[in-house]
Amino acid sequence: MRLTPGLALATLGVFLAAGSTFAQATNSSPTFTKDIAPILQEKCQDCHRPGQTAPMSLLTYQDARPWARDIKKRVVQRTMPPWFIDKTVGIQHFQNDLSLSDDQIATIVKWVDAGAPQGNPKDMPAAKVFPDDGGWKLAKVLGRQPDIVLEGPDYTVKANYQDQWDRPITDVGLTEPRWVRAVEMRPSNLEARKVFHHLIAYLYQDETNAPQAQVPVAKDAVFPGAGAILMEWAVNKNYDIYREGTGKLLMPGAKIRWEYHTHSTDHDITGHPQLAVYLYPKGETPKYRTFLAFLGTSRIGPDFIPVLDIRPNTVEESEGFHVLGAPARLENFQPHMHLRGKAMSMEAILPDGSTQMLSYVGDFNFNWMTNYIYSDEDAPVLPKGTVIHIKAWHDNTNDNPNNPNPGAWVGYGDRTVDEMAHAWVNVTYISDDDYKAWAAKHKTGRGE
Ligand code: HEC
Repeated sequence: MRLTPGLALATLGVFLAAGSTFAQATNSSPTFTKDIAPILQEKCQDCHRPGQTAPMSLLTYQDARPWARDIKKRVVQRTMPPWFIDKTVGIQHFQNDLSLSDDQIATIVKWVDAGAPQGNPKDMPAAKVFPDDGGWKLAKVLGRQPDIVLEGPDYTVKANYQDQWDRPITDVGLTEPRWVRAVEMRPSNLEARKVFHHLIAYLYQDETNAPQAQVPVAKDAVFPGAGAILMEWAVNKNYDIYREGTGKLLMPGAKIRWEYHTHSTDHDITGHPQLAVYLYPKGETPKYRTFLAFLGTSRIGPDFIPVLDIRPNTVEESEGFHVLGAPARLENFQPHMHLRGKAMSMEAILPDGSTQMLSYVGDFNFNWMTNYIYSDEDAPVLPKGTVIHIKAWHDNTNDNPNNPNPGAWVGYGDRTVDEMAHAWVNVTYISDDDYKAWAAKHKTGRGE
């Protein structure tokens, strides 16, 4: 009997599915062009391409092949991509998740173990197109240029020098109150990213005649420093888009007090911060006002300086408690510590005494000030009177490879060799009615 082509193909299909040798060969050896390049495009190339912060390019097979073993090591350790949230604890859905899935890690491991084969060049996906480095990332996301761009004065970080700070002031230049929808901050050039450890834009303004969002902020709802910070930049942290109906408020006469914290390299590098501000349309008041809060683990000592007491050769634990004076949504979790930072957790202690562990970074890495931004669905909404419990661990022993001197006592301070322990959290206060509506909708599964 003569087989029609259709039948022949069907028969061949059955034969292939049953033929285990063939099936194994395709399963066990992923190739670069077919399986690995798409992962690198999605999760690595933003940083691993010429001109960016990462040490090598991962654009082509020729670029990536020499790094195969290191790639395997770093993805298995989960130290690359830089995403250190504990995947077994607390909230797991984020707006900006950089991490690899277990399947992606398994594929990379199989590929490296099989000798990192290139595969068929025809399988190679088209090269990813990246936004122009001179442009704002938000321009792509929001489809327009910023309303205001503010620039701090230039600063030269001298070669081989100790950490330096500068705190210049820039006028925002507004004549009426305006609500901010999104902000993006960056050093003015790529080299400067290497020497600015962090850049903060503090907001100085008179709030006496501030218009309220439709949900007024309870007086006792304000954390120390609330409303005072517009944006913080650190490697890997670029922009904040506030959620639907949420904004920050800028008053006429507002000033930005920049804080530059610089870290020297082997040559002089000059740069300054640039801050892009996207406003709500004139006259539009978002329902909610959000505040970047500094949730510390240390008691505040004389002169409002926090107190940390980290003994030599010790893993030290510290904790802090912050009461929500009104119902609120927590938008993100960004642990901040220095070289001895080891881990930080954020837990909610509810008025009924129950607790919810929200987030835990068990493997903090000072090189990466990763900001974990909760997804719209998963951002925790908490009742008035909830205590936000922040706990931090510093490893001042020899086990910590970043520790410059386990024999030294360490206290709170600005220098990298001093320590800090706080989470930056955008806190958005909502009304009692909105909280009740939220709680009614989420009755099951949250224990409220
Ligand atoms: C947010 C930027 C960023 C992303 C995303 C990122 N990397 Fe990296 N990567 C870096 C930087 C910066 C370094 C150097 C500092 C360090 O080692 O932490 C680095 C270092 C590495 C190293 C070690 C290089 C060496 O010198 O030993 C490997 C391997 C690596 N990355 C692989 C990857 C892979 C694979 C991905 C994606 C699955 C990825 N990275 C995603 C920025 C990034």
